[in-house]
Amino acid sequence: MSDKGARKGVTLSTAIIGVGNIGGTVARQLVAGDQPVILAAKDEANAQALANELGPLARAASVEEAISGADAVVFAVWLDTTKELLAQHARVLEDKVVIDPSNPLGFDENGQMLRTLPEDESAGAVVAALLPTSAHFVKAFGTLDAGTLAGAANREPRRAVLFYATDDDIAAEAIEPLIRAAGFDPLKAGGLAAAGRIEMPGGDLHLATLGSLLDLDEARAAVTKNVPAN
Ligand SMILES: NC(=O)c1ccc[n+]([C@@H]2O[C@H](COP(=O)([O-])OP(=O)(O)OC[C@H]3O[C@@H](n4cnc5c(N)ncnc54)[C@H](OP(=O)(O)O)[C@@H]3O)[C@@H](O)[C@H]2O)c1
Repeated sequence: MSDKGARKGVTLSTAIIGVGNIGGTVARQLVAGDQPVILAAKDEANAQALANELGPLARAASVEEAISGADAVVFAVWLDTTKELLAQHARVLEDKVVIDPSNPLGFDENGQMLRTLPEDESAGAVVAALLPTSAHFVKAFGTLDAGTLAGAANREPRRAVLFYATDDDIAAEAIEPLIRAAGFDPLKAGGLAAAGRIEMPGGDLHLATLGSLLDLDEARAAVTKNVPAN
């Protein structure tokens, strides 16, 4: 996406790769906020079914076509799948805003949730390192479980906050209107180094740790509360 395009605040088209819990919710919210979306899934019929439900602002495509046709791309798939897709579609990811909601989560043989990365490594850092240098990375849309995300849009009287983390000004300028369109107030938690703060398990700005949704004032206080010393 061009620097100019982001600064002008034009409507972006957003590819959403994955139409499950998170991808389906984000797609519904962006369309409700008048944003065009291009949907892709492993089985294109699943993307088509959601596009049919969402109407003229949504269309379905292959993963490659969805990324090519969009300014911003949400990888609403599991982290290992994101890693595979980034390798397969590196060429079309040049210059795109890449939005990563993934958490470093897996399950053991008893169905117990476990962390899949070392404590000091975020999923965001893993994804960002795999992108073409011209891409604009932002961690976002993963700080609430999908059910809470779906129910908390356009909260009254004060909107709930969705945190994001990025080192990239173009990505920040792209994600803020998308978070607003989805029905939330955007707040930057920090740069890429802060991505782990908005992931689970363990991130201090993730709903799983916070225990409740925050409005903008509460969220600003929470961001400054546990800032690492360096
Ligand atoms: N669930 C939550 O509450 C939540 C909250 C925050 C963050 N997250 C993060 O969001 C991500 C998605 O989680 P989820 O719960 O939404 O997963 P999910 O419901 O299992 O949905 C996964 C989606 O990925 C698609 N997919 C799988 N392989 C693919 C491929 N090779 N190419 C294209 N699409 C592919 C699936 O396509 P089909 O529909 O064709 O099977 C499905 O639509 C994860 O990284 C998770 O950590 C989840």
